[in-house]
Amino acid sequence: MITRRRFIAQTGLALAATGAGCRTRSTLEVKTMNARTRERPLIISTWPFGKPANERALAVVRSGGSGLDAVVEGIGVAESDLSNNSVGAGGLPNAAGVVQLDACIMAGPGHRAGSVAGLEGIEHPIAVARRVMEKTRHVMLVGAGARQFALDEGFPETDLNTEAAQAKWREWKAKQGEAEGHDTITLLVLMPDGNLFGGCSTSGLAYKLPGRVGDSPIIGGGLYVDNDVGAAGATGIGENVMRYCGSFQVVDLMRRGATPEEACAETVLRIARKDPKGIDLGIYFLALDTKGRYGAAGVGKGFDYAVAYPGYSEVLHSLALSDTNVKVVGGHVE
Ligand code: GLY
Repeated sequence: MITRRRFIAQTGLALAATGAGCRTRSTLEVKTMNARTRERPLIISTWPFGKPANERALAVVRSGGSGLDAVVEGIGVAESDLSNNSVGAGGLPNAAGVVQLDACIMAGPGHRAGSVAGLEGIEHPIAVARRVMEKTRHVMLVGAGARQFALDEGFPETDLNTEAAQAKWREWKAKQGEAEGHDTITLLVLMPDGNLFGGCSTSGLAYKLPGRVGDSPIIGGGLYVDNDVGAAGATGIGENVMRYCGSFQVVDLMRRGATPEEACAETVLRIARKDPKGIDLGIYFLALDTKGRYGAAGVGKGFDYAVAYPGYSEVLHSLALSDTNVKVVGGHVE
């Protein structure tokens, strides 16, 4: 069991050990919120674009939809938003100029999961991930197989290579510039009956190598749901999350007594303790638990995340775990 006192002690140790050229905040400077609500459903998601996604998910539940409907339709809002350069139809292409999308979904009841990676020409990978979970004996489909499955299931083929995305890709190719930052949507739902659901969808790193898969479709990496404990998800540099089973670690810390916020912070700091890059990792987590507690934490100045429940829908700021603006590129390659 991690008591609050032990969490602080461990964090203090972590802070002392994460040098790597920038100062991490002392535990005394970190203002914890440890927020909680008794309202249901409780829905949280990454970044300000999570707010309309949460509101859609809330409306779905209120009109009798299931937790899975809420995840798919909520995330679907971000996937259809062409102004969003890192999720769904507006996503930026890979180095070959092709948009490849990743997504996964988990249902607490039955501990079920579905996932797609490197999916081309389909606007809603989160809906395809659900279909993988519900209609196959498998968890994950990738590339051409995932696309064929989606087409066989009746998903419409969509040209995701928008003129705007192609123009940005041509500009990047001319300059062979650095990768851009990207903001995955991860959305977690605690339903009125206590069941938990989650999903994650992204176009991944802009201008990534063709075939590159990040943390977002990896169960335990970009998302993890345990119906007895809570749910967690990630955004940021997938390579720095998936090497550490980041979302699984968050849920496991909650299992051992940490609040969602503490578990997110401790996971970031554990990874920073271990990683040669220290805190400069571009990783961010959010989580909620079966008691209706929720929170988030990230490197650098943290990140914004959206919270909604009946009568409430806001964008909040996570715990921020260092005093620098970390770089948006990373992975394990220097
Ligand atoms: N977190 C999304 C990715 O790195 O692909």
